[in-house]
Amino acid sequence: MCGIIGYAGSGRASQAITDGLKRLEYRGYDSVGIAVLSPKSKLEVRKDKGMVEEVSSALRFTSIGGNIGLGHTRWATHGTVCRANAHPHADCTGSIVLAHNGVIENYAKLRDSLAAKGHKFASDTDSEVVAHLMEENAKTQPLIRAFMRTIGQLEGSYAIVAMSAADKEERLFIARRNSPLIIGAGKGEMLCASDIPAMLKYTRTFVPLQEGDMAILARNGYKIYSADGAEAERKQITVDWDMEMAKKGGYPHFMQKEISDQKHFINESLSSDTADAMKLICASGRIDIIAAGTSYHAGIMLSYLLQSTGRVAQAYIASDYPYIAKPDKKTLVIAISQSGETADVLQALRFAEGCRKIAITNVVGSTVTALADCVVFLNAGPEVGVAATKTFTSQLAVIYKLFYDKERLKPLSGLIGAMLEHDNEIKAVAQKIAGKENAFFIARGRNVPIAYEGSLKFKEITYIHSEAYPGGELKHGTLSLITPGVPVIALAPKDETLPKLLGNIREAKARGAFILSITDDDEVKKESDISIALPPGTDPILYPFALIVPLQLLAYHTSVLRGVNPDRPRNLAKSVTVE
Ligand code: AGP
Repeated sequence: MCGIIGYAGSGRASQAITDGLKRLEYRGYDSVGIAVLSPKSKLEVRKDKGMVEEVSSALRFTSIGGNIGLGHTRWATHGTVCRANAHPHADCTGSIVLAHNGVIENYAKLRDSLAAKGHKFASDTDSEVVAHLMEENAKTQPLIRAFMRTIGQLEGSYAIVAMSAADKEERLFIARRNSPLIIGAGKGEMLCASDIPAMLKYTRTFVPLQEGDMAILARNGYKIYSADGAEAERKQITVDWDMEMAKKGGYPHFMQKEISDQKHFINESLSSDTADAMKLICASGRIDIIAAGTSYHAGIMLSYLLQSTGRVAQAYIASDYPYIAKPDKKTLVIAISQSGETADVLQALRFAEGCRKIAITNVVGSTVTALADCVVFLNAGPEVGVAATKTFTSQLAVIYKLFYDKERLKPLSGLIGAMLEHDNEIKAVAQKIAGKENAFFIARGRNVPIAYEGSLKFKEITYIHSEAYPGGELKHGTLSLITPGVPVIALAPKDETLPKLLGNIREAKARGAFILSITDDDEVKKESDISIALPPGTDPILYPFALIVPLQLLAYHTSVLRGVNPDRPRNLAKSVTVE
């Protein structure tokens, strides 16, 4: 939540920052701002509520000259969405500016004590307090010490980039705790940002900061300090992602591109290294899986597959894990997180102290990788749309790889490709349901996590209320909501779940529901108002991969028809770094 970026180099800072903000916008998009130290050593701050494209061109961000600066795109936590609450925030003199991602938990106390010393605040945010605190500390010590002292006084989560007009050395002061921040080490230019794609135009060499780290960035290099102030070495990583992967590539939305990319990335995911994870699984007793949102649905699939081999396994919503579970030293904890930065997941992992841990993630250098004994990467390339699509199928792919041999999974790319061919049909279905207020997704067995995921995707970007159930549950309450015309989306492949699911479809149909089925069964087709065909002869274990694609397309087209931007649904952000 919130994207931050800093640049110190010989190029035009405002350009690098604006480029980066466009890539970071998926993290939060209610307001945006930039601060650049102009050639006259004056801090130029421009910010407003609105999307990056409109605000940056209205306020002419890139017209600001200067070689050092910072920027921020906001997802509001404290204070309404307005210009005053947009970042960057400044101290009383306007000489120190900063951008912050996270939540400063002790901000009220700090604010009161600073106000008592005469500080005047221009916003309602917790973040502004940090600028004033640094101003106060800088009255008695050099900037670098003042910054470190400031960081030491903060409670909560933060990724911070700060700078001062009074700093003759033109440096960025940065720090992180429980919010991501990565240094991008270019030639003659240093950057930092909440994620890697924001810096790809400038470098492919990155240094992820560790929890509690602080760093100083200047044009020719960086110095990292651990939380106790001692200089620290951190590993550099090189990524092979390129700018094209983080662009729309001719598609109107990232989501559509990412859905379509699945047929390629599935093979990358299937080639990821799962050998060490397998060893840990084989050596473990009980297995707890922790994740949120879409990743939780992949986690349910993992738990079903583990249970089918006789293992004791359970998927937990990460934010609830600490209240429910009692892991012991023999428990293996598997965290699934696309971003590797989801606060709920990181917190649950910390709660499971002493357990062996596996992380399944898409992001090299993300926080979850530092907390796990073993990491399985999705290799799905950057995912920009807020709705997770290709990373879900990638999660399923690496999970399946733990249970099935290569040959059996080989048809996956072709299967996904075949389902993508239904795009026009699904667009036509979207027209029929775009005006509805409710939708229900039903399935049984291993197809249930796909129904959950289809429903989440649908509500997330269409704003139509939707729910998903194992078909057997309908008659235990939900059937009272099935009235004439209500869409019921049935995942009905010809597997062992079909006979009973067919019964559930008939129950819904008898109450006038509009039945959309995804099926390869003639009987189901007869009962349906519309059917999307599954390829004949599909290996039953692969059905979940075939079922998810039309559900993603349905959500996408319905969203577009309703005038929603599917890449940036209201109130949401791609990476949820607050609990
Ligand atoms: C999916 O479409 C959502 N945007 C969301 O549920 C997401 O999956 C969740 O926030 C978890 O994210 P993670 O995989 O990065 O941990």
